[in-house]
Amino acid sequence: MAGELNRRSVLRGAVALGGAVAGGPILWQRPGDTAMRPSGIHLTYGADPRREMVVSWSTAESVATPRLLLGDTQGGLSEVVDAESKPAPGVDAVQHHARLSNLDPGKTYFYRAAHDGGSSDELTFTTVGNERRPVRFTAFGDQGTYQNRMAPVVNTVASFDPDLHLHVGDLSYASDTGGIRAFEALWADDERRYNPSAWDAWLAGLQPFASRVPWMPVLGNHEMEVDGTELGYASYFARFVPPDNGAGGPRGATWSLRIGNVAFIAPDSNDASAELPRNRDYLGGAQESWLEATLADYRSRPDVDWIVVGFHHCPYCSSSRHSSDGGVRDRWTPLFDRYQVDLVINGHNHLYERTHPIRQGNPTTEAPIGATIDPGQAGTTYIVSGLSEEDERLPDIATAPVAGVTHYTGTDFGLRVPEVVTWSAVKDELSPIVICAEASPPDSGGTTTLTIRSVDAGDRRVVDELTLLRSHMPSARHSRDGKEPS
Ligand SMILES: [Fe+2]
Ligand SMILES: [Fe+2]
Repeated sequence: MAGELNRRSVLRGAVALGGAVAGGPILWQRPGDTAMRPSGIHLTYGADPRREMVVSWSTAESVATPRLLLGDTQGGLSEVVDAESKPAPGVDAVQHHARLSNLDPGKTYFYRAAHDGGSSDELTFTTVGNERRPVRFTAFGDQGTYQNRMAPVVNTVASFDPDLHLHVGDLSYASDTGGIRAFEALWADDERRYNPSAWDAWLAGLQPFASRVPWMPVLGNHEMEVDGTELGYASYFARFVPPDNGAGGPRGATWSLRIGNVAFIAPDSNDASAELPRNRDYLGGAQESWLEATLADYRSRPDVDWIVVGFHHCPYCSSSRHSSDGGVRDRWTPLFDRYQVDLVINGHNHLYERTHPIRQGNPTTEAPIGATIDPGQAGTTYIVSGLSEEDERLPDIATAPVAGVTHYTGTDFGLRVPEVVTWSAVKDELSPIVICAEASPPDSGGTTTLTIRSVDAGDRRVVDELTLLRSHMPSARHSRDGKEPS
């Protein structure tokens, strides 16, 4: 009912996320500090984006009674949801998370992040609804706080008004080590190489949009930091609470969710990379089991048309910097073939590249800019959207010729196997390019499309366009009442 949020509809109280909990000593250093405003406010969907949302933020130091004020009318924030607070490696800033469940589908909520003596502006988010409608999402990886990768890409994402942004790893670049052990020992105390405060600067830059629409994170190699933990993920998990429905390991290291007829799956490619072995096999094979079970489930469901898998390392990329990663290619692409994954989105190589549709390692047909293909027949399209090298210290060496580049396989940088590239369709290395995709619900004939436009964040030019099309008997896969199956 307008103006009155059902108090039973919102999970109250702190949620056990690990780390320090509300009431712990870090909360009571400077009670009543009125100058400390919540910063870096960002949203993360739970496993059910219709009903679950996590609101996260940071304060410069510890605060008393961090909480979320929530309501379903502007100015009517009648609910109070306790937040859990967590420290993060190497910074004074404290991270806060308010986890909401039992929200109403398709409803706009208003909220403030607050504590004793301070609060954010009033902000809004809208849960995913039950009605059939187009699903929009954006994606890229490899962002950091570089100027050409902040306001232009955030504004490009915002202009598309997506339901979800998928960030495929290498998030803040707080750590230069990139998961290379030899660099960890050399750079642990070098602020130019390891600057944990970059995380909060990065999230502050995202806030204008990430406080309205979830930016769903994926672990990249630069999330493996020098934090004294086995996996190096402490900074990441201090700041993100992804869905807890993955392959094990830390909560949310892998996750999946569905919005409308699109399923999103986010594995952790640090577990599978042949190039960078730091965290290889930490999930002990559980990731492949989870990935296969998740793919099989989504592909069998009548309410899912499109399967999008996002992870960091590239099965297919013709850049000569990181090239293709034989680990993710050999371990995961057979599963993508078996379950007809429609689209794989990666980062890691700092450029844009799209393949022709691929089955069993080979392109099945040509898919130039503007093509329409049926992935059920033609295979999986792989896109690298690693933004660009502009403003970086390192020179770009991504301009190697497409044919005859190398691809990693075997172990630890060790073996670069020459490969004649036959699968590269479109390549652009000059600009940060954002993937903007829209999936249509099935029409009365059972046809649905996933339209992918890749947009230059600088001038909003569409540099690549591809339409995926699936067609099936509506009676076999979809009810006709216009509602989502629950
Ligand atoms: Fe990167
Ligand atoms: Fe990377």
